[in-house]
Amino acid sequence: MMKLFVDYSLIIIPAIFCSLTISDASADDCFRRYYGESSFVCVCNATYCDSAPSVDGPLPTGQAIVISSTQNDSRFQTHYLHFDIPSNESTVFQITVNASKTYQAIIGFGGAFTDAAGINIAKLSFPAQELLLSSYFGTLGIEYGIGRVPIAGSDFSTYPYSYDDFPGDTTLSNFSLTEEDLVFKIPFINWAKTISSKPIKLFSSPWSGPAWMKSNNDFSGFGHLLPENYQPWAEYFVKFFEEYRKHDINFWALTAQNEPNNGRVPGCSWNCMGWSPEDQALFVGQNLGPTLANKGFGDVNIMVVDDQRTFMPSWPETVLADPEANKYVSGFGVHWYANNLVPPSVLTSTHEAFPDRFILATEACNGPYEEPVIMGSWERLESYAHDIIEDLNHWVAGWVDWNLVLDEGGGPNWAENYVDAPIIVNNTVDEFYKQPMFYAMGHFSKYIPEDSIRIELEISDSTRSLFGTAFLRPDGKRSIVILNRSDEERMISLVDADRVDGTLTLICPARSIHTIVYV
Ligand SMILES: *[C@@H]1O[C@H](CO)[C@@H](O)[C@H](O)[C@H]1NC(C)=O
Ligand SMILES: *[C@@H]1O[C@H](CO)[C@@H](O)[C@H](O)[C@H]1NC(C)=O
Ligand SMILES: *[C@@H]1O[C@H](CO)[C@@H](O)[C@H](O)[C@H]1NC(C)=O
Ligand SMILES: *[C@@H]1O[C@H](CO)[C@@H](O)[C@H](O)[C@H]1NC(C)=O
Ligand SMILES: *[C@@H]1O[C@H](CO)[C@@H](O)[C@H](O)[C@H]1NC(C)=O
Ligand SMILES: *[C@@H]1O[C@H](CO)[C@@H](O)[C@H](O)[C@H]1NC(C)=O
Ligand SMILES: *[C@@H]1O[C@H](CO)[C@@H](O)[C@H](O)[C@H]1NC(C)=O
Repeated sequence: MMKLFVDYSLIIIPAIFCSLTISDASADDCFRRYYGESSFVCVCNATYCDSAPSVDGPLPTGQAIVISSTQNDSRFQTHYLHFDIPSNESTVFQITVNASKTYQAIIGFGGAFTDAAGINIAKLSFPAQELLLSSYFGTLGIEYGIGRVPIAGSDFSTYPYSYDDFPGDTTLSNFSLTEEDLVFKIPFINWAKTISSKPIKLFSSPWSGPAWMKSNNDFSGFGHLLPENYQPWAEYFVKFFEEYRKHDINFWALTAQNEPNNGRVPGCSWNCMGWSPEDQALFVGQNLGPTLANKGFGDVNIMVVDDQRTFMPSWPETVLADPEANKYVSGFGVHWYANNLVPPSVLTSTHEAFPDRFILATEACNGPYEEPVIMGSWERLESYAHDIIEDLNHWVAGWVDWNLVLDEGGGPNWAENYVDAPIIVNNTVDEFYKQPMFYAMGHFSKYIPEDSIRIELEISDSTRSLFGTAFLRPDGKRSIVILNRSDEERMISLVDADRVDGTLTLICPARSIHTIVYV
């Protein structure tokens, strides 16, 4: 139940609608709050939270449902458009969708159950917690299908730790989960599972092994796993999966190491462990892959890289050149933090080199090295939406955000590496705030379900401020996301190669994002 209480007198009815061919515009249910930034947040508490419109029911033929969010007016506002004869071809930007040309299948979208996320959720009252988890995983929310779970601590923990901090315990006799797992991760993962209408695909990632297994005897800094500890480290993954299974949590995948390059250079100031691609290939091929298979976890998909796309396609090439590692690797994880250094074409090259392995965006956030939390930043919505579209248009099969929830300072984080998150909690007043980034995630995650197939989309836009991506959903509907980063109004004509009943004409405001769904 999301809409426990709605006082429509408090809701500002958005002034925008696309007047030409749009009918039935309905107000959204965001309770707005402004902090003097470029846009607003939506406020939720123990009795009220806004919801996301569903497109799962039957849609009338000849009509499209459009879900829109704009900088100054709306969040997930719905309206209907009709396919029609275009009014003024010469002035419109044309978008052409062609389902005869197909690309990758979608795995999903999601976020991470970090210690910090759980600590913040736990600070809310029980009904507010339920509304928060429903906002991400419920059918009235944005229906995330993926959750990332750190294996022991990350920087988004209150102190660095592993599951076996007993020097020399190579048999892992003292391995144990921590209070962080039992109080701040497992209960919320299981709660999300009960809220979700579909199985949540979980994947796990380690930041660092126990300090004693490493060359520098530390959780952070310049250091790697000592080769004599490769096999204990593989067994450590198995123990983690066994312990979580006791709590009814099973994993779809893992990444062999979060950002393996961090520990290969001096100056890594939070949990990290360095690997060369050659060493990672040895570990995956000789230790991790066979050990998981022997211990009943052979169905857990192994991802490598889990680092910036600057390492594509060279890291996959080196790892998969090892015939043993090659047998076990299912996919590649990419993070977004160095995207300005290399073009997205490296993702396409990676796909072309290894067409039978998937690419998943496994981490992204705004805020590092700048103001950690900006309450109501539209630019941060645009950065998410633009990156998701770019990734999806270059063979990436899904996009996983970093912390599901943080506090007003962007933490907690023991290494003071504070960042932003799509939901910010204010425990002093039992409120949580949905940042514009939350809606960026939702415009994709709710409307492009697992196993949707990307189809061809072309945009005629010389100003290069319109971005889009198109999908054929398993239910036969098409789902198209359009991001408009322009500062001026623009008319768009959407042509579907399979239709003879005309085009969709949209006139919408500057700085907006739209998901268009039709049969
Ligand atoms: C929760 O939010 C609703 C809608 O904004 C508001 O009417 C209600 O008073 C809030 N409840 C509390 C306890 O603040
Ligand atoms: C239609 O095109 C004419 C010129 O061909 C232009 O003057 C007019 O503004 C256009 N109308 C719209 C709605 O774009
Ligand atoms: C396991 O932990 C206990 C204390 O809880 C300690 O006495 C023992 O030495 C540890 N075992 C190993 C192998 O480190
Ligand atoms: C959180 O609540 C406190 C107490 O009302 C308030 O001072 C603070 O500004 C709030 N923070 C945000 C981000 O709204
Ligand atoms: C993008 O914004 C422009 C104004 O900047 C507007 O004219 C155009 O219709 C918008 N596009 C969409 C798809 O909303
Ligand atoms: C759609 O794609 C198919 C296959 O590439 C092509 O034959 C057809 O001409 C395209 N249709 C349009 C309208 O672009
Ligand atoms: C949104 O409002 C701000 C402040 O009034 C204004 O500067 C900005 O241009 C508006 N954005 C759009 C897209 O209208």
